[in-house]
Amino acid sequence: MKVQIMGSGYAVPERILTNSDLEGMVDTSDEWIVSRTGIRERRIADEDVAASDLAWQAAQAALTRAGIDGRDLDLILVATVTSDMLFPSTACILQHKLGADRAAAFDLSAGCTGFLYGMVTAERFLASDQYRYVLVVGVETPSKIIDYTDRNTCVLFGDGAGAMVLGRGEGPNGIISSCLGADGAGVSLLWMPAGGSRLPASIETVNNRQHYLKMTGNEIFKFAVKAIPEYSLRVLEQAGVSMEEVDHIVLHQANLRILRAAARRMRVPWSKMVVNIDRYGNMSAASIPVAVAEAVDKNEIRAGELVLMVGFGAGLTMGATLVRWGR
Ligand code: ACO
Repeated sequence: MKVQIMGSGYAVPERILTNSDLEGMVDTSDEWIVSRTGIRERRIADEDVAASDLAWQAAQAALTRAGIDGRDLDLILVATVTSDMLFPSTACILQHKLGADRAAAFDLSAGCTGFLYGMVTAERFLASDQYRYVLVVGVETPSKIIDYTDRNTCVLFGDGAGAMVLGRGEGPNGIISSCLGADGAGVSLLWMPAGGSRLPASIETVNNRQHYLKMTGNEIFKFAVKAIPEYSLRVLEQAGVSMEEVDHIVLHQANLRILRAAARRMRVPWSKMVVNIDRYGNMSAASIPVAVAEAVDKNEIRAGELVLMVGFGAGLTMGATLVRWGR
C-alpha cells in the first residue's frame, strides 16, 4: 500500500497587484522587480478574506477531484504562518466550514516548507488503519502581515491556497520518499517579531512596526541555493531514483533567480521546472501545492509521472518529497 494523492486543488484571490501598482507605493520599478525576482504580479485577498476562506476554496476543489466530501475526511492539516488568528487553529475553522465533523484538525507552522511537512505528517497518520483520508492545505495571506512601505519585502509576496487529499492505494503511484530539516539558528532571518509570548502586542510593538514580516533577503537567498540541491539529492538517493528520471521539479517559488541557480546546480533542463512565480509571487506554504495543482489542471503533470517538490523557508526549514503522481 502507498500513500497516494487522490486529488488536488487551489485558489487565489481575484485582485491583482502589479509591479506598476507597487511603483506608486514604494521607491521601486517594474524593471528592478522583474530582473531581481521574476515577479510580474501577485494576488491580494480582500480585507474581509482570511486564510480559512482561501483554504476552503482550495479544499473544495481537491475534495471534488478526489471524489469525496468533507464528511469522509479523518484529518485536516493546515500549513500556514498567516492563520486567521493566533488560536484556535485555522484547521478547526476549515473543518467546520467543510462540515468535516469526523475529522481531527490542527495547524502546522513550518514557513514555506509547511506543505511538505504536512504531507510527511499525513503519510505517517495514513500508516494507521484509523485514518483513510487526510486533507493537507498550504495557505497564506502574507498581504496581511506585509509592510507596504518596505520595498525589500512588499514586492515579493502574494496570497493563495493549495490543497491535496491523501489516501492509501495499491499500485506504483504515491509518495516515494521524503526528508525534512530545520536550522533554528536562522530564526531572525525571516520572522514577525511581535504578537507572541516573547513580545506581546503593545502600543510600542505597533509603533515599532514589529507586527510585520521582516526578512534578510540575501541570507535566505544563499541558504536556499545550497539547501535545494542538498535536499533534492538526499530524497532521490533514498528513493534510488536519478535526477534524469524525474519529470517535473516544483521548487518553492521565492525568486526566479533561485529557481535558475538551483536548476543550473542540479543540471536540470529548464523545461522540467514548474514556474508560476511571475504571476503569483511568493505564496509561502501555498506556493508548492498551488504550482502542482495548477500544472495538474493544465494536464502538464500526469498520472504516473515523477514529481520532485522542494521547499525552504522561515525557521529555517527545508524539505523535499518525491511523488509518483496520481492514484
Ligand atoms: N526595488 C528597488 N530596489 C530595491 C528593492 C525594490 N523592491 N528591494 C531592495 N532594493 C534595493 C536594496 O535597498 C539594495 O539597495 P542598496 O544597495 O542601495 O542598499 C539593493 O536593491 C540590493 O539589495 P539586495 O538585498 O542585495 O538585492 P538582492 O539582489 O539580494 O535581491 C531579494 C533581494 C529579491 C529579496 C533576494 O535577496 C531574494 O529573493 N532573497 C530570497 C528571499 C526569499 O526567498 N524569501 C523567502 C524564502 S522563505 C519564504 O518564502 C517565506
